[in-house]
Amino acid sequence: MDKYVIRGGRPLQGEIPISGAKNAAVAIIPAVLLVEGVCRLENIPQISDVDMLLTILEGLGAKVDRIDGSTVEIDCTCAHFVDAPYELMQKIRASYYFIGSMLGRFGMAKTTMPGGCNFGLRPIDQHVKGMTALGATVDIKDGFVYANTPDGKLHGSKIYLDKVSVGATMNIILAATLAQGRTIIENAAREPHIVDLANFLNSMGARVKGAGTDIIRIRGVQSLHGTTYAVIPDQIETGTLMIAAAATCGDVTIHGCIPTHMDALTAKLLEMGVRVNDYDDAIRVRGAGPKRAINIKTQVYPGFPTDLQQPMSALLTTVKGTSIVQETIFEQRFRHLDEIRRMGAQIRVMDRTAIIEGVTELYGAPLTATDLRAGAALIIAGLMARGVTEIYEPGYIDRGYEHIEDKLRSLGAEISRDLAE
Ligand code: UD1
Repeated sequence: MDKYVIRGGRPLQGEIPISGAKNAAVAIIPAVLLVEGVCRLENIPQISDVDMLLTILEGLGAKVDRIDGSTVEIDCTCAHFVDAPYELMQKIRASYYFIGSMLGRFGMAKTTMPGGCNFGLRPIDQHVKGMTALGATVDIKDGFVYANTPDGKLHGSKIYLDKVSVGATMNIILAATLAQGRTIIENAAREPHIVDLANFLNSMGARVKGAGTDIIRIRGVQSLHGTTYAVIPDQIETGTLMIAAAATCGDVTIHGCIPTHMDALTAKLLEMGVRVNDYDDAIRVRGAGPKRAINIKTQVYPGFPTDLQQPMSALLTTVKGTSIVQETIFEQRFRHLDEIRRMGAQIRVMDRTAIIEGVTELYGAPLTATDLRAGAALIIAGLMARGVTEIYEPGYIDRGYEHIEDKLRSLGAEISRDLAE
């Protein structure tokens, strides 16, 4: 089996660039289906989720030209409706964005029920509510989502999301872009990648206003034109590296990030006693010295991101005192803690709360990643631990982190990727 092998205990030191944002790219790539023209996307992260989405687009008749690692040109002029491949779609959560973009382009959609990381129930009722309000009929049966429109067109509508959902907000934006009339999304999510999707669509002639606030207004347009667009830097990769720097008592400067996107994490690191300095597009994190236990509660943006809860809780396992971590977004996002416990961590989990008693050190152990950010958390635990840690199921980590072992190695970590014989 493939695995990461980490010999822990080395402080990360140096400078590191950030890649494009996974959660923006995985919405922007399906969005390209809405345009009959060429889109040049820059700063696309080299991760397996992106590869899968590009392959799905090719299956729909798009011409995909990978210019270099982070730039891709996509021409969807000749795209046509086909059943997208089940094998690929069910592997990746973001395939749900094809519901919105196929409906917008073809007036109908068929996708699998979304797969991807498994951390509890992940319903799509708010996506369905949105599409239905826009005039589509949506049926979920036998693991597929079927959506249709009576006259091939969606019609703008007012939609109040019962739950603040990143995916539903972006999917409704996608569907509403070419709908007739005006759509208003109330109680919308406000994450930076929602703003990025809106900016991308607007650069093609869409009229999306208010992204980044909880009310988004979309005036449907008849057609879009091609564009060149650079995806924003990855907030979660930035945060993961900030936490890794703090966890290893290192000194790392992260370049090409957007420091304001990191405010919730920065505030918590400062509260712990970690030194964090913001620059225009860089953040320096110095983790030497004693750290204080803290409490964390995950929230929708601009609160503490659930995707950083897992790496952060790994760090807290070695911080003296009692830290309390509450996960309010997803039901079962503590499976990484079962693994880290095997390294000597003292953790009790009660429902959606983890109580972490900091130990002096962790010991290397064989571990298994159970989802993408759990994998990142295990890497951080391995970097802190005495001895050797092996992390199995590294494919989860490939889904969302570009060449993470190379990046960490360039900062002085002892990490390698061992391939199965
Ligand atoms: C996206 C991100 C994921 C991140 C999450 C929260 C992608 C591909 N994934 O996931 O990395 O952890 O945002 O920031 O961008 N919910 C419903 N009904 C719905 C939709 C969601 O009840 O129709 C619930 C979910 O179960 C969850 C909460 O709403 O409890 C938030 O989910 P959502 O924001 O939609 O997350 P995802 O889009 O799945």
